Amino acid sequence: MITVRLAMENDLPQILDIYNDIIRNTTAVYYYEPHTLEMRKQWFEERKQKGFPVFVAEEEGVILGMSSIGPFRVPTAYQFSVENTVHVAAHARGRGVGKLLMPPIIDAAKELKMHTIIAGIDASNEVSLGLHKRFGFVEVAHFKEVGFKFDRWLDLKFLQLMLPQSP
Ligand SMILES: CC(C)(COP(=O)(O)OP(=O)(O)OC[C@H]1O[C@@H](n2cnc3c(N)ncnc32)[C@H](O)[C@@H]1OP(=O)(O)O)[C@@H](O)C(=O)NCCC(=O)NCCS
Repeated sequence: MITVRLAMENDLPQILDIYNDIIRNTTAVYYYEPHTLEMRKQWFEERKQKGFPVFVAEEEGVILGMSSIGPFRVPTAYQFSVENTVHVAAHARGRGVGKLLMPPIIDAAKELKMHTIIAGIDASNEVSLGLHKRFGFVEVAHFKEVGFKFDRWLDLKFLQLMLPQSP
């Protein structure tokens, strides 16, 4: 059975493996170089300090994927906007894990009184675009050729989910 729960520090090596495989083999994230465990620990610590949750999907002790929300941008006026992340291990894709990882971050954003969630998605990533649209995200921006990876230009889309909360 697949369960979704809050991530713990000892999940970080598996979360890192999933992320680094995505860096190495896809344009879903725009980094070129794999991240280190130290970088992941620092990221996790920052999320915890700011009160932003990280969720994992787990099956028999194996982490299949993760999702999280974090700040959209630094200046204070962005305080009611968050950006989301969702990643599933290559061997577990297409089994509904992404769908399980979305509701907890949407609920968390509501609990944190956020007004909107933004997803930055590579324009060629049909699965992620489909996943986010399924949860009500709407495309609001399409940036042309802002990334360059694997010898080609990458377009980035922003999708947005508005939430009812206002300050
Ligand atoms: C994108 C990703 C998170 C989706 O997770 P997943 O577990 O593979 O997806 P699921 O099996 O839960 O499928 C969820 C939904 O995706 C959408 N989807 C799947 N394949 C699709 C396709 N070819 N075209 C459009 N939408 C598609 C559908 O809405 C599907 O739900 P449905 O089958 O009930 O209609 C995962 O594939 C992944 O991590 N990919 C690599 C990294 C990545 O792209 N991360 C997102 C960065 S923005």
